[in-house]
Amino acid sequence: MERVEKFLKEAGTYYLATVEGDQPRVRPFGTAHIINGKLYIQTANTKDVSKQIHANPKVELCAFKDGQWLRVAGELVSDDSHEARQAMLDAYPSLQNMYSADDGITEVLYFKNATATFSSFTAAPEVVKF
Ligand SMILES: Cc1cc2nc3c(=O)[nH]c(=O)nc-3n(C[C@H](O)[C@H](O)[C@H](O)COP(=O)(O)O)c2cc1C
Repeated sequence: MERVEKFLKEAGTYYLATVEGDQPRVRPFGTAHIINGKLYIQTANTKDVSKQIHANPKVELCAFKDGQWLRVAGELVSDDSHEARQAMLDAYPSLQNMYSADDGITEVLYFKNATATFSSFTAAPEVVKF
């Protein structure tokens, strides 16, 4: 899981796909941080992406860096603890311009039943589950 976090942080941007009915939805994301042994992302509960995840927690993300791409497929679980929200905001100080831990909008979610696959054109895929 640390390798996945490192890749996502170094890539800077990844693309998070959700489903809405039978329509895939995708957008750029940047937050990825391990808190208490789980890989979290951050969003706002006012966004469509949050509403889609609450309706169907299955997501997949993809990031590309240095000739390698990473896909993480799994489910996202919303964590309503102040500590988790604060830890994410501490890890991404720039978010504090927009959010605070108890603003009622900030949401953090962690991956469950995740399969991460590192791929490239030159090596066999490597799979990590967490
Ligand atoms: C580079 C980049 C990184 C982003 N990271 C995040 C993020 O970590 N969390 C988030 O909620 N929105 C992030 N955004 C903004 C979302 O992409 C944007 O709010 C998007 O419209 C949300 O999807 P939705 O419209 O389907 O709800 C980021 C945007 C960019 C350009």
